[in-house]
Amino acid sequence: MNRVKITGTGSFLPEKILTNSQLEKMVETSDEWITKRTGIKQRRIAADGEATSDLGFRASRQAVSAAGIDVQDIDLIICATITPDMVFPATACLIQDKLGIKEAAAFDVEAACTGFISALAAAEGMLLTGNYRNALVVASEILSRVTDWEDRSTCVLFGDGAGAAVLSPGTGESGILSTHLGASGAYSDLLYLPAGGSLNPASHETVDNRLHYMRMEGNKVFKIAVQKMAEGSHSSLEKAGLGIEDLKIVVPHQANLRIIKALAKKLDLDMEKIYVNIVKYGNMSAATTAVGLDEIIRKGLASEGDIIQLVAFGGGLTWGAATVRL
Ligand code: UT7
Repeated sequence: MNRVKITGTGSFLPEKILTNSQLEKMVETSDEWITKRTGIKQRRIAADGEATSDLGFRASRQAVSAAGIDVQDIDLIICATITPDMVFPATACLIQDKLGIKEAAAFDVEAACTGFISALAAAEGMLLTGNYRNALVVASEILSRVTDWEDRSTCVLFGDGAGAAVLSPGTGESGILSTHLGASGAYSDLLYLPAGGSLNPASHETVDNRLHYMRMEGNKVFKIAVQKMAEGSHSSLEKAGLGIEDLKIVVPHQANLRIIKALAKKLDLDMEKIYVNIVKYGNMSAATTAVGLDEIIRKGLASEGDIIQLVAFGGGLTWGAATVRL
């Protein structure tokens, strides 16, 4: 074994669509502002009663089927999410149960929008030890449940969805070529959810003060996002001994079309080589790069042998990139 290969991917997007014009009726905003400032036209919203593990389960089932293995052959499940079904147990355990897998190791990774790449890196390392045979990496989010629908500066940005990938050890050229992960806790107050943890346990007061919703200083996050994603992309390429020209397509985190365009400029990459789906889904945090990965494969934008890169940025602040030969 010398590489860990992505053998199958899947995704699941809830049916319900929330458009910009519907948002115009909920907060003081406009389709024009949202489109111009973010590139988002609509986002998906999970149905009442649907939980993060339900979305993750649907995406996982598709990934396992694409990988062509028996679900019981999975012995490691890592779920990236900031919107778990419950504080504990891990959503990965709930997905394991829904898939009917017996006793596979299961835990969650919490690295916000960088979560899928962090989970891929963790799974790669664990598979390389030889202690696990096949890993399922899931990124699933229901951000609509932690969105303050009265705050126009954040509620227009986020959406719900899930993506998944099956990883298996291989001996060929294909596989994860390199990863780069970074974080800066000094910026933790730029993007966070204040209450519900040990610092501010849920109380009537925290609910009254709307502290169970995400808060973000968008402007400050924007600038750091572009810089750190570009650095992550370069670092991952360098570790793999590759140049930007070797990439068939880049799947960046979809937080803002202006961020994606600024990243393309910094990387000196034509926008045609950058995958964009923010217009349909908004920002799905960890699920964004996972869904993007599945879509580029299903649409035939990248196929076996092509080198692609995932690059993301999010709360923490965290950032990361993974360069992969499919
Ligand atoms: O996924 C994790 C990482 N997240 C990100 O990377 C997000 C990064 N940040 C962003 O994408 C952008 O900063 C936002 C889209 C969040 C905001 O765009 P912006 O161009 O930075 O706008 P702004 O916050 O500077 O606000 C400009 C104006 C303000 O009005 P004044 O003060 O100029 O009168 C806001 O009150 O736009 C106003 N505004 C809105 N107007 C209509 C803010 N939100 C809205 C809205 N509709 N939804």
